Amino acid sequence: MTPLIMAPKPTFIATPMKKTSIEKHNFGAVIDGLDLEDISDSDVKALADAIWTYKLVVVKGQKHVRPIKQWELVTRFDPKAPLVHSHGDLKTFNKQGGLLSKGRDVYSVPGAENVRIIGKGYQGPDHFGLKETTIRKEVLHAWHNDKVSDEIYAQGHTRFQRWHLDAPLYARDPALFTTLRCFKRPTQPNVTIHWDDASGHSMTTEPGLTAFFSNVQTYDLMTDDEKMIADHSWVEYAPHPYQWMSDCKSQSTGLGLVSQGREKKLEELSPYEEKDIKRYPMVWVNPVTGERAFMVHGICVRRAFMRSSVDEDPRVIDDVVEIREWLANIQQRVLKPEYIMNPKVEEGDIIMWANWQVFHSAVDYPDHWGARTMHQANIGSSRQPVGPTPIPVLV
Ligand SMILES: [Fe+2]
Repeated sequence: MTPLIMAPKPTFIATPMKKTSIEKHNFGAVIDGLDLEDISDSDVKALADAIWTYKLVVVKGQKHVRPIKQWELVTRFDPKAPLVHSHGDLKTFNKQGGLLSKGRDVYSVPGAENVRIIGKGYQGPDHFGLKETTIRKEVLHAWHNDKVSDEIYAQGHTRFQRWHLDAPLYARDPALFTTLRCFKRPTQPNVTIHWDDASGHSMTTEPGLTAFFSNVQTYDLMTDDEKMIADHSWVEYAPHPYQWMSDCKSQSTGLGLVSQGREKKLEELSPYEEKDIKRYPMVWVNPVTGERAFMVHGICVRRAFMRSSVDEDPRVIDDVVEIREWLANIQQRVLKPEYIMNPKVEEGDIIMWANWQVFHSAVDYPDHWGARTMHQANIGSSRQPVGPTPIPVLV
């Protein structure tokens, strides 16, 4: 008889995030009692399960942890993954990152190249070996098609920058999880985030936080017919997608592009290989809970393959305007204050989220409110996301 092997109980405690009666988001937990400087394999596994289950966790009390430990943790989450940040090495990222590297300096932590420093302003005399550095960047929502005036923005009226998952969508597969460690951010006054569209929505939050919504909730808000299509369909991302759309402008909500025909022609892009073009299902299944998330990164999609059953030949849509309209109709349903969470973080907290289940967006605040320092690390996944039904490997 095979002896029953029981996994050790996690040594930490996960407490679901509190919310008010008007909030409808259904994800997030706070984790206490963990030491990421010295974490056992069984706790790494339990932490990964917690991230899949809660979609986002805030691990408290990690002020003492060395930066390299954050990178080590993400490699342990996905031990078969090639040892490189999901957006590649810094040199290639700065050269070929397109929209993602435009208008900002991207730094790594010395000695931990895959831990990226995210933030702005003066980083101090010596931040883990980065000396006397001031991070300069343009306002995050500068890529929106219509602008927020400087005067209004200086008073703390802002926008979601860009709703996305962390994904190169070319050559490498999206990280399972992203980790973001907080060192410094202003905590007051509050910013007011405006949709600046016909909805009239706005929400107020502390500055320097990251906004999230769950694409499991996006899926739950779809009709049965839409779910049937999404479950069986897939999208193809452009080669070097962030170069391809680097001249495009965003909607004022940060969700989706304004279609102005500004996509680059394929021959204008860096050389690319057909085999590295990514085709992913529209719906990604959570490997721990089995939940379905509608995971289409609309700003990078070049073609969609639509069908309602496995036997059907897909209808190929290569009109990006049509694809974007279909996506916007679905994705805008979750883009409401009650579904959005801006988890509060303080020095020593590390947010970790299931990048295959949620979208997130930065939210900028006026520079004179103070500097921001975060460390971000993730690793290109060892595997592709899996949909509810198989999609053909090549079309
Ligand atoms: Fe991101």
